[in-house]
Amino acid sequence: MDNSDGRRLSVSLVDVADGHEGDFLTISRHFEAILIRKDYGRAEMIRDEAMPHRFYAVRYWTDATAAERCHRDPEVQALTAKLYTIGRVTHVVNGVRRQDAMRLLLDDRRARIEADRRAGFDRRTKDVGRAEGNRRRKDRRLGPRRVRDHGGEVDLVGAARRAREFADAAFSNFKVGAALETGDGTVITGCNIENATYGLTICAERVAMFKALSEGHRVFTRIAIVADTDSPTPPCGACRQILWEFGGNLEIELANLQESKGKHHLKNLLPLPFDARLL
Ligand code: THU
Repeated sequence: MDNSDGRRLSVSLVDVADGHEGDFLTISRHFEAILIRKDYGRAEMIRDEAMPHRFYAVRYWTDATAAERCHRDPEVQALTAKLYTIGRVTHVVNGVRRQDAMRLLLDDRRARIEADRRAGFDRRTKDVGRAEGNRRRKDRRLGPRRVRDHGGEVDLVGAARRAREFADAAFSNFKVGAALETGDGTVITGCNIENATYGLTICAERVAMFKALSEGHRVFTRIAIVADTDSPTPPCGACRQILWEFGGNLEIELANLQESKGKHHLKNLLPLPFDARLL
């Protein structure tokens, strides 16, 4: 879609509460009809194939003013209020507030991650060296960096390698790092954490997923898992279950400290999964 013609796009993710799918579909049909009747634009409801009860509500606005009129419309507001009682709504793309809405489209956004994300004082056009001289030879920044390596993708394996350094694996000595990419291109990392009871150990993958969920992320695209072994370290059964339920059919990249050891899709690592659809 061309950005110059004034049209706008909004996308929200709707997780519908159990037993309310019928109500949800009625609300959406009603909403779609209002959009057309009042010339606000058009709406489409796309079901997520991997996640039960998850839908993507895509709204193509005629223009930014139409979207604003729609948001103010009491008929629409009444429907939205109903929707909020039966589902959790996460706004993924808001095409009205931002002029550069298309930048937020998931893959597009990933592709446009800037190589240099330093802010403020550090963003110098001329390299005048470090304030403290060249004492620091290595790049010592912690946490995920949005390195534009290949094809505009975030360096997820690099982030997982750095996260692995924080692993607390005093009992197994087996350190693992994970980096999970969310739908808006954010990278959330995790490492395994063990404790004296052994049984309360938590894997890197689940730490990353629970951190992400606790920060409000609900859309995930990829995860990288890194261990210092020659053969790849795939996620354990418990992690496969959690990744499936919250992340769907993620792309999983396994790597060690030197190289990538291959990519998989979660549905192939967890055939015949159990999830809320079966409850
Ligand atoms: N571990 C992970 O963190 N992720 C995996 O994919 C496999 C296993 C951790 C759990 C435990 O701390 C250690 O590795 C040995 O099992």
